[in-house]
Amino acid sequence: NNHNLALPVGTTLDRFINRQQEAFPYAKGELSQLLRDIALASKIINREINRAGLIDITGALGSENIQGEAQQKLDMIANIRFIRALVNGGEVVGILSEEDDEIIQTGNVNAKYVVAMDPLDGSSNIDVNVSIGTIFSIYRRVSPIGTPAVEEDFLQGGRKQVAAGYILYGSSTIMVYTTGKGVNGFTYENSLGEYFLSHADIKMPENGKIYSVNEAYFEEFSNPIKDFIVDMRKQSGCMARYIGSLVGDFHRNLLKGGVYLYPPTRKAKEGKLRLLYECYPLAFVIEQAGGLSFDGTQSILDIIPENIHQRNITYLGSKEQMSKLKDNLDKYH
Ligand code: AHG
Ligand code: MN
Ligand code: MN
Ligand code: MN
Repeated sequence: NNHNLALPVGTTLDRFINRQQEAFPYAKGELSQLLRDIALASKIINREINRAGLIDITGALGSENIQGEAQQKLDMIANIRFIRALVNGGEVVGILSEEDDEIIQTGNVNAKYVVAMDPLDGSSNIDVNVSIGTIFSIYRRVSPIGTPAVEEDFLQGGRKQVAAGYILYGSSTIMVYTTGKGVNGFTYENSLGEYFLSHADIKMPENGKIYSVNEAYFEEFSNPIKDFIVDMRKQSGCMARYIGSLVGDFHRNLLKGGVYLYPPTRKAKEGKLRLLYECYPLAFVIEQAGGLSFDGTQSILDIIPENIHQRNITYLGSKEQMSKLKDNLDKYH
């Protein structure tokens, strides 16, 4: 299981992508180019975010997305920037975005890939200078080359992702992704405008002390979930950590170990997080790093998708905590 390409920390993302492509001779380079396009889009979004407080692009836009959430100005700016980069890059035929009801046709009908994305994750944290992110998920299209993208291109299931990852605009900006051969993280160096390999072959700790859940909903959780949280609290050194930016909460737990929970609530009976552009990609990353994902019955990657904007119950975490969680849920069945 030698996933490591043996490239030293400090390798640029471009070089890493090239090397990865050489290691898989059948790869034609289109996926590599697409990953570069995503990195470019993230640099542009990073720039916008960094000056957000200065140029009146914080705050609400006054519109709602299909989920009934108030769209923030930066949600839309990130959305537009991302779409533009993927249209210009030419490798993508269709885009599914949290901020658009329908699939976006790029016009690149000969392209082989489609991308599902959460252009800006953590909207509620934009105005208060707290970490936000971008999540992406890539599939090879199933519709014929030469035609527009269709919903089936996006409804293939989590196991069909060819690559997925996220960018966290945090105390530094980092891009973390997988192509199914382990997980690697690249930190952005502002003055050079380059991502450098900083977290090679990430492995999630098998045991963690952090639990991340919006505890304001505690009373709405089912007994197995309540019990799980109460048991976590009893563990020595246990910590509660919850930013409310999924990417930030996920990234911390991936590196430090622990568990992220978004159980059903009164308002969100199916959970809140979106399957195609939040849960599948993070489930792919966490499972590639040796952690587990779960929706209450199965790995998130095994959920059969029905709807491009559907939500699902989300548990993501270290092996040890996830097996306890599963035991609890089983006990009550
Ligand atoms: P988005 O900003 O992309 O709409 O995602 C919001 C999500 C996620 O980032 C976060 O973890 C979660 O909503 C927080 O939900 P609660 O405020 O209900 O805890
Ligand atoms: Mn939103
Ligand atoms: Mn989100
Ligand atoms: Mn979002």
